[in-house]
Amino acid sequence: MAGLTGIAYGADYNPEQWDPSVWRKDVELMRHAGVTLLSVGIFSWSMLEPRDSEYQFGWLDEVLGLLADAGIAVNLANATATPPPWLSAAHPEILPMLADGSRLWPGARQAFCPSSPVFRNHALRLTEAIATRYAGHPALAMWHVSNEIGGHNARCYCDVSAVAFRKWLRDRYDSIGVLNAAWGTTFWGQVYSEWDEILPPRQAASYGNPTHALDFYQFSSDECVAEYVAERDVLRKITPNIPVTTNIMPGHATFDYWSWAPELDVVAIDHYLTAARRDAHIGLSMAADTARGLAGGSPWMLMEQSTSAVNWQARNVAKQPGEMMRNSLQHVARGADSVMFFQWRSSQFGAEKYHSAMVPHAGTDTKIWREVVELGDVLGRLEEVAGTTVTADVALLFDWRSGWALDAPSHPSVDVRYADQVDAMYTALWRCGVTVDLVSPRTELSGYRLLVVPSLYIIDRDLSRRIAEFIATGGNAVVTFMSGIVDERLHLYPGPYPGALRDCLGIAVEEFFPLRAGEQVALDNGYRSSVWSELMHLDGATAVASFVDGPVVGTPAITCHRAGEGRSWYIATRLEQESLDRLIKGIVRELKIKPPIPMAAVPSGVEAVRRSGNGRSFLFLINHGDETAHIVAHGNELICDRRLAGLLALRPGACAVVAEEAS
Ligand code: GLA
Repeated sequence: MAGLTGIAYGADYNPEQWDPSVWRKDVELMRHAGVTLLSVGIFSWSMLEPRDSEYQFGWLDEVLGLLADAGIAVNLANATATPPPWLSAAHPEILPMLADGSRLWPGARQAFCPSSPVFRNHALRLTEAIATRYAGHPALAMWHVSNEIGGHNARCYCDVSAVAFRKWLRDRYDSIGVLNAAWGTTFWGQVYSEWDEILPPRQAASYGNPTHALDFYQFSSDECVAEYVAERDVLRKITPNIPVTTNIMPGHATFDYWSWAPELDVVAIDHYLTAARRDAHIGLSMAADTARGLAGGSPWMLMEQSTSAVNWQARNVAKQPGEMMRNSLQHVARGADSVMFFQWRSSQFGAEKYHSAMVPHAGTDTKIWREVVELGDVLGRLEEVAGTTVTADVALLFDWRSGWALDAPSHPSVDVRYADQVDAMYTALWRCGVTVDLVSPRTELSGYRLLVVPSLYIIDRDLSRRIAEFIATGGNAVVTFMSGIVDERLHLYPGPYPGALRDCLGIAVEEFFPLRAGEQVALDNGYRSSVWSELMHLDGATAVASFVDGPVVGTPAITCHRAGEGRSWYIATRLEQESLDRLIKGIVRELKIKPPIPMAAVPSGVEAVRRSGNGRSFLFLINHGDETAHIVAHGNELICDRRLAGLLALRPGACAVVAEEAS
């Protein structure tokens, strides 16, 4: 980031909600907390252009001047996240439409169709005006395009979207005949004769065509990134040396972020804990590892998290003392070169007034503020960590498209949810302490020792061949049920399941036997499972465990196969988490894959990740558990600035960052 060193620290800053007298106080507090970077102006279109083509930049000039004088860098928004009321009043056709044909009204943010040329023209004009005004401004470090693009409006079913969708389809398919074949339109008599007959998959009398839906979801994801690219290109033209990004949401199931990532100068994510989950810190790790995967292993930015509670979950659980520090260091450990929040100061009004911030409603004599100041101090001590990277022996093959397809209606069981399968597998790996890269179907696999493939429903022929080659040449794989069932058009592979992986797994699945809601089955090695079972035959593999009850008693539930130099395991049921943990731990141990510290020697809940580069290596240790961990480490511990004499006692809730020396 232009002009920034170390780990950037800051937040979204929305000064337009406050009197200018507060801005001065803000700047003082920011300096006190060690803030270095702020995202400014994200929702300010109606204040910058209150009437069509009438700009009012005075207030923003003043804010940016104050920040520049204080030495605080700005990630300046192009302010296109909320079109102003005058725009939708003059052009109601820009408003998004739901699948049932109803229009959404203005009144919240993102009230536009991503394919709307009217919206696009106005957004580009505003972007140009802002870029022209602030090019060369001393505070400008980077550009923040829009905000969480598509978060509320990604899939628009209006007539304008229909026209754009047809164009997208024509680019993808050579002819209507090829489209008909890909979509399998002979099923239920849906054969198209003309492109104009094709609509977005609007609400119909029964199940729609799954490939039609998959293409529309990909189109919608592509339209959202196209919005980003169009706005980015205006910024690039005017300020070619200023990096451009937008904040993406790896946990949001709506986007194919693998195709977005190459367009971002730096990958930037927003992450919020799932309060309902007691081990939400594991979900955090997965989001951070996804960000690193999207960044191709390079450092990335944490653009938003919360200091404490949010406002949009069912029960907005506040963070415990020390939790924000742990969360922040988890992100840094996994490759973030920034720690930023939504937002700087809690709003006094509006829909998010109960959302926490760096400056809470109760002011500075508070837990949150003290922790904000402490975090700024700690991040200041980690300057040398910036730019270093994380390496992993284990890859988790992840694809948003498989989620869209697997979670669609009219499948064998509503209890098979893609995110659930991925979370369970990631959790098992996290508990072993091994570092995991989340990789895309197009990532080169050869550098990894172990590939895990949880319910990757869509596997095309190229990926099928590459997985087989990975295993044949010495790689190892763990695959769970409903992986490799269909190709990229959602056509089943012929023959027994799973067609794309049958040979390298040495199995053939004859029939699916999903379980009833709440039904559990037992395996002969003491494991328990639910949701799924299937009738499988061995075709080279050996059974590791078999079902002892349920609908397919006596048949294999877990198998292992030697294929060439490597091995593959297959799990034909949804193991209970404890059983999955045991299985994965055993495989990791058998393959001698080493976590950054020997996990057997520490109590559960300890997270250890290493960042290295430039001849330096930093071991991050975070104790989420409730027992003190004694960890062998050599070097300088940076948070408390102490030399370690070989053994570190890490109290429950505590964190350490060790600048390592060879022992
Ligand atoms: C997202 C948005 C922010 C804010 C927060 C609340 O991250 O980008 O504008 O709404 O959620 O958690």
